[in-house]
Amino acid sequence: MGERIFIGVAWPYANGSLHLGHIAGAYLPPDIFARYHRAKGDEVLMVSGSDQHGTPITVRAEREGKAPREIAERYHREFLDSWERLGISFDLFTSTGTQNHAQVAQEIFLDLLEKGYIYRDSMLLPYCPSCKRFLPDRYVEGICPYCGYPSARGDQCEECGKPLNPSELVDSRCVFCSTPPEIRDSEHFFLRLSAFQDMLLSWVRKQIHWKQNVLNFTTGILNEGLRDRAITRDIEWGIPVPVSGFENKRIYVWFEAVIGYLSASKEWAQVNGDRERWRDFWQGESKSYYFIGKDNIPFHTIIWPAMLMGYGGLNLPYDVPANEFLTIEGRQLSTSRNWAVWLPDYLERYDPDLLRYFLSVSMPESADSDFSWREFVRRNNDELVATYGNLVHRVLTFAYRNFNGSVPQPGEIDPLGKELLGKAQRALDSMDRLLYRCRFREAIRGAMSLAQEANRYLEERSPWKAIKEDEEGPATTVYVALSVINCLKTILYPFLPFSSQRLHTFLGFEGRVEDEGWAFHQLPPGQRLEPPEPLFAKLDEWVVEMEMGRLGERP
Ligand code: MF3
Ligand code: ZN
Repeated sequence: MGERIFIGVAWPYANGSLHLGHIAGAYLPPDIFARYHRAKGDEVLMVSGSDQHGTPITVRAEREGKAPREIAERYHREFLDSWERLGISFDLFTSTGTQNHAQVAQEIFLDLLEKGYIYRDSMLLPYCPSCKRFLPDRYVEGICPYCGYPSARGDQCEECGKPLNPSELVDSRCVFCSTPPEIRDSEHFFLRLSAFQDMLLSWVRKQIHWKQNVLNFTTGILNEGLRDRAITRDIEWGIPVPVSGFENKRIYVWFEAVIGYLSASKEWAQVNGDRERWRDFWQGESKSYYFIGKDNIPFHTIIWPAMLMGYGGLNLPYDVPANEFLTIEGRQLSTSRNWAVWLPDYLERYDPDLLRYFLSVSMPESADSDFSWREFVRRNNDELVATYGNLVHRVLTFAYRNFNGSVPQPGEIDPLGKELLGKAQRALDSMDRLLYRCRFREAIRGAMSLAQEANRYLEERSPWKAIKEDEEGPATTVYVALSVINCLKTILYPFLPFSSQRLHTFLGFEGRVEDEGWAFHQLPPGQRLEPPEPLFAKLDEWVVEMEMGRLGERP
């Protein structure tokens, strides 16, 4: 057995559809990573779920005149459907609405309370006199005290990313009626983050393998000094506070959502018939990776680690490879202006592997990157179809027609063929190193240049012409090309799982690509091929105009 890898993926709020920004930021990278590790024979546990609580859900529910549960369940079902169609292979995608989750969250709450890491205090909070209620988190907006952004929300400033308390906002107002709130006293529980300051700082200093942006953002916050944060709210929707006298309050959504990583692991163990198996990933030798967008960094590099340190006995994050943002047609993505490409719409119209391809080659790994429909069509036609799809189709149809539908018996492989086979082996090895370090963009580019090399080799050898005079030469050429295609199938599998699996069958294999291992196998001569079909289709130019017309439109 290889390594053990826990993969935690950000829990999407169940208050709206997913868009390409979510996918590029947090969902595609962990899936690539999980598929790569599974193919290597490592033991992987990848979990997430929908984040069903808090004001993101209730604000939406109030606007639509629906119950929060109805909203949460609708989007939960939509997420499950999207994962299936996009091939995001969670071992478990649950939700924060389960009994199990509430139980685990309350247990951690009580444990930290008992240890003094959670304490009770009164605080001054915005209260809307006209709506007659407290205004937690997203019920209040105002000026960010850190960067001056005018419509910062009470939970976090969208502009500078700092987590906020509602009372810190300058010139705040109720999001429903715009009334400036009064300030009233309310009793709450606080997480004693200040107690973890030194421990966190010395732990973070050791994480030299983290991305620079993650490290910088985190040390920046730590250097300013951590302040304790309220972890309960005056709200009806959420997990009850397990202390008497607090029946009208709920646990803060962020405090319990991060606990989802643990509760989901326990649920997974239970569903799979071994209740204790979560321990392998949390207490045994195992590395924990958390895949998130950059707005979630402080919750995963400071707050969750502090909670884990306080609770004790569980693995801290090993890496938090947060991505930057995806812009759309050169502009910042905005859901309120509908400047976004929605995942369910995409999946209705186009190939899932094509989206996975596009977002992998231009992944916002270390800087923001852009999605544009023109580039999308170009990358499909000039790269996916021209470089990879056509290579596969040409070789497979040629082999199928000229060698009785099976892998030909090669003669002696000449230096040019050997060189190409060597390149395939080296691509496999270098992608192994890149994927291990979550360098997805570089990895897929390496795979595509191998496809280019294979095209060059075929042009040089031209088996289509040579077949008229001689059979052995072309048989060898086709054998080498098929072997390289078989290697491409493996190295592209984490990125393009659907087409790799189809290619696997065309090449005459049964079972799953994943079970073949992360290895370069030469093909068995004589193996029967399946009648090939194209892996990808060209897109018409009108796609660009049609899709651009949809952007910014009121839905
Ligand atoms: N729901 C949050 C968001 O969409 C992410 C929560 S990640 C978690 O920004 F781990 F805390 F759940
Ligand atoms: Zn700000």
